[in-house]
Amino acid sequence: MSLSACGSSEEGADDGSITMGFAQVGAESGWRTANTTSIQESAKEAGIDLKFSDAQQKQENQIKSIRSYIQQKVDVIAFSPVVETGWDAVLQEAKRAKIPVVLTDRAVDTEDTSLYVTFIGSDFVEEGEKAGQWLVDNAEASDVDKDGAVNVVELQGTTGSAPALDRKKGFEDVISSDSKIKITASQTGDFTRDGGKQVMEAFLQSTPKIDVVYAHNDDMGLGAIEAIKAAGKKPGTDIKIITVDAVKDGMTALAAGEINFIVECSPLLGEQLMDVAEKVVAGEEVPDLIVTEETTFTPEQAAEALPDRKY
Ligand code: AHR
Repeated sequence: MSLSACGSSEEGADDGSITMGFAQVGAESGWRTANTTSIQESAKEAGIDLKFSDAQQKQENQIKSIRSYIQQKVDVIAFSPVVETGWDAVLQEAKRAKIPVVLTDRAVDTEDTSLYVTFIGSDFVEEGEKAGQWLVDNAEASDVDKDGAVNVVELQGTTGSAPALDRKKGFEDVISSDSKIKITASQTGDFTRDGGKQVMEAFLQSTPKIDVVYAHNDDMGLGAIEAIKAAGKKPGTDIKIITVDAVKDGMTALAAGEINFIVECSPLLGEQLMDVAEKVVAGEEVPDLIVTEETTFTPEQAAEALPDRKY
């Protein structure tokens, strides 16, 4: 898809350099910190002038930043939407100002796909499916008290965000093939370590039997580990733990056997984003969808990968 018909804004076209306005979600997790570093370093390497804002996980802050980038007449706007819905009005404003928008990491839910040029990021549904498949394949070992039922508690990401919705859906679709596996409690921990800890503490009090924690990211899983230990149980043994991301702290817990399986979600999107931005500003065609290739990790694979892990 190309927005060349819209042309580029005046500011960047004048001196030949590209100015990008980037509206980041926040600094809620280790993944997000690695993503921010990747974007800032890649912009520097590509010689792109980056205007960066941190929305502190609030959609209204992201909308304000995007409006300010429109006013500043940047050449291209990129952002990772906190939640999926509610973007049409501000994206229409960018379109009217002839500023192309690139979505990165998270998608928006809109009927008008002309409001953005492309999406660069992960297939979150597939990530949830991989998590679910591991549980189906390891259902017997995950039935810790051997009562014939595998009771899962789910720590959801930010309510209404693409990764929370899609990771839930992918996981549920796959575990539905095994009637022993049931989600017995599910609540948001907002993708933060503290959120994961607090929700897990509540689950441990309210839910009599927990075999498995499915956390939508490593940070919430790490928070859950703290709560499980405080309750006198052994994470990874008394309660199995599945997470998504594969950041260093998560991989360290996986290698130590405190997490049982991690589905990778790569935060290293900066280089692709700058490459796409240069093409879009030059009026070149780019694919509508650029999906990141990702893997999964067992404890043994984590131990092997850790020495070279960059984030
Ligand atoms: O959108 C990606 C998700 O957001 C990551 O899995 C999570 O860690 C982050 O906060």
